[in-house]
Amino acid sequence: MTDQGTWHEAAALSALSEGEPHGIEIGRHHIALYRVGNEFYATSNICTHAEALLSDGMLDGCEIECPLHMGRFDIRTGEALTSPVEIDIQTYPVRVTGDRLEVCLPA
Ligand code: FES
Repeated sequence: MTDQGTWHEAAALSALSEGEPHGIEIGRHHIALYRVGNEFYATSNICTHAEALLSDGMLDGCEIECPLHMGRFDIRTGEALTSPVEIDIQTYPVRVTGDRLEVCLPA
């Protein structure tokens, strides 16, 4: 437990490829994991516009493009960047432990 939530094992680092979003579910949370160089990020996997899976979208640098209507979010901050998305997505803290990525989720 932390003030922010609870750490959960999310994926093996070897399963996370540069430029290929990776969708997982932990309990009720639908999470998209991203690798950009040696940095890792986690966001909600559900687009705030019409609930498409962002893990089916295209990662361009630190921007994920939704596969349904091409709205874009910044995966570092969750900020909604381009129409038609207007509502930011949730982001989650991540950490590397050994060869695994962990994500911190609210309880
Ligand atoms: Fe993602 Fe419409 S569902 S932009």
